[in-house]
Amino acid sequence: MESRVVFITKRTKAGAVSRDSRVGADFLRFGRSADCEVHLPDPRVMFLQAELHRREAGLYIEAIGDGDVRLKGSVVMTAAVRPGDVIAVGPYDVTIGEPGEGEDAAIQVELVRPFGDDLAQLRARSRTSLGASWLGKRGVSWGLAALVVLLFLVIPVVAYMVPGVREATRDWPIKADTAWSSGEISNPHKFFAEDCAVCHQKAFVPVTDAACTACHKTIQQHADPKQFAMADLRGSGCQSCHKEHEGPRPIVLNNDAFCAQCHANLAALVPKTTLKPAADFGATHPEFQPLVVTELGAAPRRVSLADRPREMAGLAFPHNKHLTPQGVRGPLGMTKLECASCHQAERGGLLMQPVRMEAACSGCHQLKFDPARPDWVLPHGRPNDVARLVRGLYDGLALRGGVEEPNAPAPVRRRPGTPLAEPERLEALAWADRRAGETLRVIFGKSVCGTCHIVDPPAGAMAEWSVRPPRIAQHWLAKSMFRHDRHEVFGCDNCHAATKSESSEDVLIPGIAVCRNCHTGTTPVVNKVSSSCISCHGFHRPELGPMFETAKSGLSTN
Ligand code: HEC
Ligand code: HEC
Ligand code: HEC
Ligand code: HEC
Ligand code: HEC
Ligand code: HEC
Ligand code: HEC
Ligand code: HEC
Ligand code: HEC
Ligand code: HEC
Repeated sequence: MESRVVFITKRTKAGAVSRDSRVGADFLRFGRSADCEVHLPDPRVMFLQAELHRREAGLYIEAIGDGDVRLKGSVVMTAAVRPGDVIAVGPYDVTIGEPGEGEDAAIQVELVRPFGDDLAQLRARSRTSLGASWLGKRGVSWGLAALVVLLFLVIPVVAYMVPGVREATRDWPIKADTAWSSGEISNPHKFFAEDCAVCHQKAFVPVTDAACTACHKTIQQHADPKQFAMADLRGSGCQSCHKEHEGPRPIVLNNDAFCAQCHANLAALVPKTTLKPAADFGATHPEFQPLVVTELGAAPRRVSLADRPREMAGLAFPHNKHLTPQGVRGPLGMTKLECASCHQAERGGLLMQPVRMEAACSGCHQLKFDPARPDWVLPHGRPNDVARLVRGLYDGLALRGGVEEPNAPAPVRRRPGTPLAEPERLEALAWADRRAGETLRVIFGKSVCGTCHIVDPPAGAMAEWSVRPPRIAQHWLAKSMFRHDRHEVFGCDNCHAATKSESSEDVLIPGIAVCRNCHTGTTPVVNKVSSSCISCHGFHRPELGPMFETAKSGLSTN
């Protein structure tokens, strides 16, 4: 069957624009599928909706599936059609024409119910635009803008200006000025995180150092600005090193590069410094310089452990003799001493408490001096007190009498309680004085005080014995922080070679090599603790003046 198909693509005032085609096929298929002879691309048409057949009686239209095919307004399944009939296939009208020469059929196809029209009609029926309502676009915009201003400007400003509002609105879902927060406040400052005005003292003015120093009143310099102008922090502002609003991240600057920018070669920046280069604990860091009393009675000074200093504390104490594996002789037999018998951690666990003679030594080194009178025990203390006490003891003994010593004079040996005449009394006291003198020589000699102390004999007739007070260092590494409590699990001998020390002159403080057994710098090393500068060092130094002394004098602090 030969057919002519005319597509009306567009109607204008001047007439219709059409596209003609000739189709040679047994029958014509109408549908959206591309292989339909009459391709109807509208989405509302089915892939195959209708077929036009030529039978002996003429042309027939057949609906395929549930396709909506209407002839003169009524749905048809199969119907005979003749020229002039209009078949509605979905939104298209198919008009049957007079076939021309050599043609079996002629049809004209036109999209008469375009999709857009339907949509436009639907829209027209269901229209609820802003324009149609009482609001209007402009009104809504203004309304929303006003709400934003209210929520995020007016309420916060009111909360900021009017006392009490913040407290009153604390539990509201809408936060007062907290709405402006640029991030979570750090942990140490959480306790006032919502009181923005504590730090942001003036609205729309950046946080000043004065806000920080209001609490951190005594925060100090890092190096004396009079000596090292480059280390003056007054211009830099706390926030340059302490970033807020970054949540639980620490707000202290923990970055070795920051320290190394100066300390990698401090001498190049400040020629007068004596500090050696320090850039990474594992690689570049000076040997420690503990404070050591290197001369008897002198003040301690910092000496590098590399120079193997000797400590002249003025106290004899051989650790090794007291720490033998079998123990040491004591009043109750062999006693095994441990470090903890003498060294107890301070409260807080930082360093060790000072060793006290009474607690640590006197159990074994009892201050007895007269074998005939073992109940006489001296107090541990000032030599003058010792001398007075000893003289008093012998005076009393002589005056009471009854002393059974062969070379004592008669008044001293007399029956106790017998009265004394004045010359006898003086004789007895002269004996007591002699005995006390002898005894004091013993006491201050090697066997009692001198076991442990350096003792000076009386400088003249009226003078007394004297004992050099020992200077036992309590804090050796003054320029860093060491904490015993962090090392509790390790035995003392990891760091202190005490059991082998034969003399108190040995410095038992470990050097950097010992620390490096376990610690390294910030470049990670297997099986080592990574330690940054601030795990061992402070930055603001307590011995230096506060950074912002000028705050008091009214000068700018920022
Ligand atoms: C502990 C002090 C502190 C508190 C409390 C605090 N801030 Fe800040 N805030 C700062 C500092 C310091 C900065 C400067 C940014 C920086 O470099 O860390 C800052 C910066 C800001 C900024 C960025 C603008 C700028 O100046 O850089 C906003 C916004 C802000 N804070 C809002 C708030 C709000 C809102 C609150 C209350 C919920 C608040 N802050 C509480 C210390 C504080
Ligand atoms: C309301 C008082 C207050 C104000 C204001 C304040 N701080 Fe603090 N800050 C504290 C308290 C309390 C701590 C915790 C105790 C401590 O370490 O001293 C702390 C701790 C710190 C720490 C040590 C944090 C840590 O992890 O060890 C730094 C650094 C600090 N504040 C810096 C600042 C800076 C910078 C400002 C100004 C933006 C500021 N502070 C304002 C009270 C305050
Ligand atoms: C040039 C950098 C820098 C500046 C400026 C600075 N700090 Fe620090 N601050 C540090 C470093 C690094 C630490 C860490 C050292 C430590 O943990 O002891 C620190 C530690 C602190 C600490 C906790 C330890 C301590 O010593 O109490 C507080 C509090 C502190 N700074 C407050 C302030 C305040 C307040 C200001 C402004 C007046 C300020 N800092 C300025 C670098 C700086
Ligand atoms: C801007 C340069 C600079 C920066 C950054 C710096 N320091 Fe210093 N530091 C100095 C100066 C200057 C001295 C004083 C030198 C002197 O006394 O000879 C010093 C001294 C020291 C001392 C010796 C203290 C003493 O009592 O003699 C230590 C320890 C120290 N700094 C550690 C640090 C650490 C840790 C950091 C990083 C958190 C750091 N420094 C960052 C310049 C700096
Ligand atoms: C458990 C008992 C005991 C305690 C506690 C004790 N010592 Fe001793 N100490 C001895 C004995 C026993 C000797 C003798 C060891 C020897 O000669 O081998 C001795 C010897 C000494 C010597 C002389 C060492 C020498 O080379 O001749 C000194 C000095 C000394 N002790 C100091 C002290 C000090 C200081 C304390 C306290 C911090 C102390 N001792 C605690 C038992 C003790
Ligand atoms: C077994 C060792 C030992 C003997 C014996 C000993 N001391 Fe001490 N002495 C110490 C120790 C350890 C200290 C430091 C710790 C302390 O003050 O308890 C000390 C400290 C002192 C001090 C300084 C106290 C101060 O406050 O600075 C004097 C003074 C002193 N002794 C006098 C004497 C006299 C006097 C004798 C003899 C009667 C004596 N000591 C016997 C171990 C001894
Ligand atoms: C990880 C190494 C290490 C270990 C483990 C260690 N110490 Fe120390 N110890 C040190 C350092 C470092 C110092 C110097 C601290 C300072 O004074 O600055 C020190 C100091 C001391 C001092 C001198 C007084 C003082 O506190 O400065 C005594 C005493 C002492 N240690 C005893 C002990 C005893 C006892 C143990 C075992 C319970 C022990 N140490 C474990 C490293 C260590
Ligand atoms: C009987 C008491 C006693 C015992 C036990 C004892 N010490 Fe000591 N220790 C002292 C006295 C006293 C000093 C101070 C005199 C001196 O510097 O030697 C001292 C000083 C130290 C020091 C100071 C550093 C130095 O160079 O002088 C260290 C570290 C130390 N002892 C570690 C130890 C360790 C580790 C042990 C256990 C293995 C130990 N001690 C056991 C009494 C004792
Ligand atoms: C036997 C191994 C060992 C030795 C030796 C040792 N440390 Fe440690 N140190 C540790 C360990 C483990 C920690 C805990 C690390 C932690 O808590 O993150 C620690 C913690 C510390 C801390 C605390 C760090 C912090 O962030 O709080 C300091 C400071 C420190 N060590 C200093 C020293 C010094 C100085 C020496 C040498 C005198 C030394 N340590 C020797 C194992 C050691
Ligand atoms: C594991 C602990 C630890 C670490 C990490 C550490 N130090 Fe030290 N540092 C010490 C000790 C301990 C001393 C000796 C203190 C003394 O002699 O009083 C010291 C001394 C210093 C000194 C003084 C040197 C002198 O001769 O006066 C400077 C400066 C120094 N360190 C800077 C740094 C710098 C910068 C870093 C980071 C790159 C750093 N340290 C890392 C423990 C440490």
